[in-house]
Amino acid sequence: MIFGATGDLAKRKLFPSLYRLYEKNRLHKFAVIGVARRSLTNEEFQQNVRDSVVSSLGIKNDLDEFVSHFYYQSHDVTDSASYVALKNSADQIDVRYELEGNRIFYLAMAPEFFGTIALHLKSDGLTDVTGYKRLVIEKPFGHDLASAIELNNQIRTAFSEDEIYRIDHYLGKEMVRNIEVIRFANAIFEPLWNNRYISNIQITSSETLGVEERGRYYETSGALRDMVQNHMLQMVALLAMEPPIRLTTDEIRSEKVRVFRALRMIEGEQVKDYFVRGQYGEGTIDGNPVPKYRDEPMVNQNSNTETFVAGKFKIDNFRWAGVPFYIRTGKRMAAKTTKIVVQFKDIPMNLYYQTEKVLNPNLLVIHIQPEEGITLHLNAKKAGGHLDAQEVKLSFANTGTNAMNTPEGYEKLLFDCMRGDATNFTHWDEVAYSWAFVDKISAYWEQTKEDNFPNYQAGSMGPKAADELVEKDGFFWWPVNNMDVDVCK
Ligand code: BG6
Repeated sequence: MIFGATGDLAKRKLFPSLYRLYEKNRLHKFAVIGVARRSLTNEEFQQNVRDSVVSSLGIKNDLDEFVSHFYYQSHDVTDSASYVALKNSADQIDVRYELEGNRIFYLAMAPEFFGTIALHLKSDGLTDVTGYKRLVIEKPFGHDLASAIELNNQIRTAFSEDEIYRIDHYLGKEMVRNIEVIRFANAIFEPLWNNRYISNIQITSSETLGVEERGRYYETSGALRDMVQNHMLQMVALLAMEPPIRLTTDEIRSEKVRVFRALRMIEGEQVKDYFVRGQYGEGTIDGNPVPKYRDEPMVNQNSNTETFVAGKFKIDNFRWAGVPFYIRTGKRMAAKTTKIVVQFKDIPMNLYYQTEKVLNPNLLVIHIQPEEGITLHLNAKKAGGHLDAQEVKLSFANTGTNAMNTPEGYEKLLFDCMRGDATNFTHWDEVAYSWAFVDKISAYWEQTKEDNFPNYQAGSMGPKAADELVEKDGFFWWPVNNMDVDVCK
């Protein structure tokens, strides 16, 4: 059951992903009930599904058969009678498609209704099933720790922790999932993966888009809650966690939670030393002028909301003591890219000095998007030269070699949920720790309004203060916008 079936997420991501699973023969006995307020017939809804698949994947021969599995139920999320009607139609569909009482409830809608829906699902009997029941819930999971706890308590009355699949769509990205494999399946990295050999780690997730139509939500969120609390911290956890004893959901989650527990809390005046916020002014993106954030629809003219965050995390454990993890993320930046740069320490002595030139440090770059791959930056002898060293790059690109069709993140997450694999979903403990961390930063920012907003130009890589954050530790941001993985076809 997809709640919010007429919404953007269902249209852009969920229907095409379900089709891809169907096409790969991964959906056998299945039916989808689309649930939303609007009144639609089954046929109209099926047409929406068809259009969404065609617009993202092109014409497909088996679309009629695929969409025949889709039903629609007009629904009022606060009204018990609606749930009773939904239950009746779900029970009939269950028998018709031999679903063995298995049910997945996907909440792809405004978060203020998450709690209400979960409570009704239970009180109106939809969760009384003979098979499994699972709840898939989109972000934001709360607005701060207190609201996240309240929401969690509500959904826990109807679902146990292992039945809750909290989506962080970054965990569906192929190269985010690859972090573990790169780390734990290679003898050459893991021995170096610590404070003796790594000098710092930089994670950039930049976007060229502004807030589009989401001004209302974004005004209450800002980049810290929208990106850092979830996606950025999840990537930090995957990079920093200890090897799990086994690749089970519980073992991996508990290692991630240990990273959150070791994360140094930053609060009060310290925030200034560790975090930088920005808001975009007008500028140019791809040659087109774009307005400043404060002129976007549904945004306050004096808004103090941050559209950019750069920060430094410290993980106080044996492996990472002394190694800064820098993150930066923002809207209306120079490039749409997500990259992780692991910078290794300099070698003890450089034998290859040429006048002023120093050796480049070794870097391992994990390209999350738009390219998918890894690049290892090494130094090697310059051909023909005397013994001059020059930088060489070893690259692996997913698109170039083994996977022309990297599956869409949502396709993998939906499939994981159907298989009952919650590894790539966020456990409650991770949510709670990350809110506790982020709340301290936002509390300080709320008390101390930023008076120089806007402080970066649209189309740039963020405010100057973000560069200074790294420079004061003796580093600089590696220029990720022109660091494409070399595609080896
Ligand atoms: C979402 C945020 O979680 O992630 C958006 O709410 C942001 O504001 C998006 O644009 C970025 O996702 P991606 O996959 O495009 O990097």
